[in-house]
Amino acid sequence: MKVIVFGGGPIGVAVRSTLEQAGHAVVTVSRTTGDGRADITDKASLDALFASVAPFDAVASAVGVVEPGPLAEATDEQWASSIASKGMGQINLVRAALPHITDGGSFTLISGVLAEEFTRHSAIGATVNNMVEGFVKAAATDLPRGLRINCVSPTVLAESPHYFPYFPGYEPVTAAEVGMAYLRAIANPITGRILKLHKTNS
Ligand SMILES: NC(=O)c1ccc[n+]([C@@H]2O[C@H](COP(=O)([O-])OP(=O)(O)OC[C@H]3O[C@@H](n4cnc5c(N)ncnc54)[C@H](OP(=O)(O)O)[C@@H]3O)[C@@H](O)[C@H]2O)c1
Repeated sequence: MKVIVFGGGPIGVAVRSTLEQAGHAVVTVSRTTGDGRADITDKASLDALFASVAPFDAVASAVGVVEPGPLAEATDEQWASSIASKGMGQINLVRAALPHITDGGSFTLISGVLAEEFTRHSAIGATVNNMVEGFVKAAATDLPRGLRINCVSPTVLAESPHYFPYFPGYEPVTAAEVGMAYLRAIANPITGRILKLHKTNS
């Protein structure tokens, strides 16, 4: 399969490595690094990117910026930019790829543990993650041509220690484990699923 992977952070790097080890061809994309360039907040740049890399069989998103902030102090700009990036950006990524992805292809988006476990000042992150998961569950019922869509929801990453102070008591997951969840979503006939790597069963 040929997979377009968005994001060159620890998750994007792990997704690329896992997919390549499984024998898939990967095209990496971000605003400043990778094989291709696109900004998920700019739909015209997504349209141009997908036209230039078509045809492809899967799109995997490991992008999206959410601004942290206490609810009482969060600004209009923090709310708007978070919704525009991780929320609408990932939705537009699917919409822009639709004319080009092959029949039976798949989309894998990213949310996070804050969709259902709440830490201090997590209202923006929780809202945007639920926006993404809601879209994935509904889109799975509405995609044409046998296309599938799933979402990977990791807890805080072992490779992101700068986030540890915001997740007290949360056992991290490794980027390699998250990469395997993307492979599971792409290589199996599942759709509408939220693949959770939360480590919060206790
Ligand atoms: N790290 C964690 O602990 C963790 C846990 C759960 C969920 N997540 C989620 O996983 C996703 C990826 O996180 P990460 O920590 O692996 O990566 P990251 O360090 O946040 O890096 C994000 C990557 O996305 C690209 N990017 C950012 N904004 C973009 C845009 N508007 N258009 C295109 N590319 C863009 C960046 O490259 P450019 O700057 O070159 O564009 C960068 O390569 C995020 O949605 C995050 O919320 C992360």
